[in-house]
Amino acid sequence: MAPARSILSACLLLPAFQQIAAAAAPAATGQFSFLTFNINGLPGISNGVPGKKSDNHKTMGSKFAQYGYDVIHVQEDFNYHDDLYGADNHPHRTETSGGLFKGDGLNTLANHPWEESTFSRSKWDECSDINAADCFTPKGFTAMTMELAPGVLIDFYNVHADASATEADLKARRDNIAQLAEFIQTNSADRPVVIGGDSNMLYTREAETVKILTDLDFVDPWVELIMNGTAPATGSSTPECENPAEGLECETLDKIFYRPSTAIDLQATYFNYETSKFLQEDGSILSDHNPVTTNFYWTQL
Ligand SMILES: *[C@@H]1O[C@H](CO)[C@@H](O)[C@H](O)[C@H]1NC(C)=O
Repeated sequence: MAPARSILSACLLLPAFQQIAAAAAPAATGQFSFLTFNINGLPGISNGVPGKKSDNHKTMGSKFAQYGYDVIHVQEDFNYHDDLYGADNHPHRTETSGGLFKGDGLNTLANHPWEESTFSRSKWDECSDINAADCFTPKGFTAMTMELAPGVLIDFYNVHADASATEADLKARRDNIAQLAEFIQTNSADRPVVIGGDSNMLYTREAETVKILTDLDFVDPWVELIMNGTAPATGSSTPECENPAEGLECETLDKIFYRPSTAIDLQATYFNYETSKFLQEDGSILSDHNPVTTNFYWTQL
């Protein structure tokens, strides 16, 4: 009888204890790791990456599983999608929108869920075929509201903007980023936002396009944590990264931006180019882009 009585008294005590706990509860906090990676999934174009594309996608998928980043954005996930997903084990993943000419190449792999009704794919209004054939497949961005913890909702945007650097490309990309910004202002005003993808932007080439986002209070963790808060000006000498990146003070097209909300603070705590973790067995690169990671810390205010 003794055990039953102690369970009973524990139950009777619980409501009072819960009240005290609620009154004294500190703000909920948590963290998550984020990776964005253009995985070079265009069929028949090596882009200087050795090896079979299907094998390289299997290796990247197995490394996604091995390192377990909480949220992963991939771009150019076109014709080797099954190889990538077959080797990965994240519990929540977007369905592919199709191979080249059909899909946008954008997918998200995550340890946290989202309501399917919050997920959307948007095609850019503008594209330029002058230099990099950007109109051949419906490039654009995806949006989703992910639940990082009960009641902690963060909006994630995966982006693949118009490529290259002719006047037509610069104009198309400026238009892309303005379209993204307008969508975010309309749909994510009340929630924290993380943007991660192949922006095809460089501060050293087009700081005024990046400014569309920083004017909306978006912060680039590379600028914040590595460049001591000062973004390179257009025309400045900050080098574009090699692949693998030769350090952290070089700039890449693959970018991350974030913004907290009034209800949930968001802070980047770590930034890195992850290429050394994503190599073939013989040390060759797996993609023509560097994977980029940031760790985030959130606090319910
Ligand atoms: C940022 O600050 C650190 C510490 O003072 C310094 O070592 C580093 O060179 C600075 N980086 C840049 C890009 O200014």
